[in-house]
Amino acid sequence: MGTVLEVRDLTKKYVEGTAESKVVDHVSLDVDEGEFVIIMGASGSGKTSILHLIAGIDTCSEGSIKYTLPDEVRRPADLARMNEKEKTMFRRANIGLVFQQQCLIPDLTVYENIMLPLMLDRNRKENAFKKDKIMNLCGRFGLKEHVRKYPSQLSGGQQQRTAILRSVANLPPLLLCDEPTGSLNSAQTELVMDLLEELNKGGQTIILVTHDIRVAARGKRVLYIEDGHVEGELDFTEHIPNGAEMHPDSGPDTAGTDAFHTIEDREEKLIHFLQERGW
Ligand SMILES: Nc1ncnc2c1ncn2[C@@H]1O[C@H](COP(=O)(O)OP(=O)(O)OP(=O)(O)O)[C@@H](O)[C@H]1O
Ligand SMILES: [Mg+2]
Repeated sequence: MGTVLEVRDLTKKYVEGTAESKVVDHVSLDVDEGEFVIIMGASGSGKTSILHLIAGIDTCSEGSIKYTLPDEVRRPADLARMNEKEKTMFRRANIGLVFQQQCLIPDLTVYENIMLPLMLDRNRKENAFKKDKIMNLCGRFGLKEHVRKYPSQLSGGQQQRTAILRSVANLPPLLLCDEPTGSLNSAQTELVMDLLEELNKGGQTIILVTHDIRVAARGKRVLYIEDGHVEGELDFTEHIPNGAEMHPDSGPDTAGTDAFHTIEDREEKLIHFLQERGW
């Protein structure tokens, strides 16, 4: 398991008149294959901007973003060296995106929207979701009776769940999610997090932005962003003795004294970490 993403001194500046603002300010970050990284921070701190730069949707002012993805036969790929078309192709093959605002195609039904990445990906993987798996997930996500509807006929939560299924359908090695549970109730949030956890256990790398402590506690580490830079990091795996398996349902730890295995332990640790940073 190597590093799949290497971000160095990532900076994004906007110039308005004579004023210059740095919305992303020298962010450096390594993400290993199979990691589940959470990004938190106040509204306007730069979380979405960081995700958009990493996805190559937006261009940075300074810094570098390099990928070494297994599907690219571990050939390092430097976003700065790609033109727009190459970036689009790279993203299509390797990155699943869940945006903060849903970007479903209005003229396609729920089913067609979900299937779109599979249809666009010419080098579709053998193990990409098949029709029955997609229908099964639609059922799990409460979308089965809506598959023939268009996005305008759906609630915000239904649109969000459709967008999530669309971004995971072709099993991209990296998933970038911007508040994927923002318009979901707690039961639906659980469903989405269960799916993401399943995918992560299957080897997918996930970077997820959230304001929700319960969601964040299901990641492996949390980066806290303040004024465009990484202000702190909490690693949930740090105190786990002997690489013991973490599970939300696991009981109190018996192997070590300072381990925090349970989701409640992680939440408590996270709340403390956030409060220290003026959350
Ligand atoms: N095109 C732009 N021009 C100027 N400033 C921008 C532009 N896009 C974003 N910003 C500013 O960048 C800052 C970071 O925005 P960003 O959307 O990354 O925040 P965020 O952390 O995702 O917030 P939220 O939690 O509300 O989604 C904000 O102050 C925003 O106003
Ligand atoms: Mg945002």
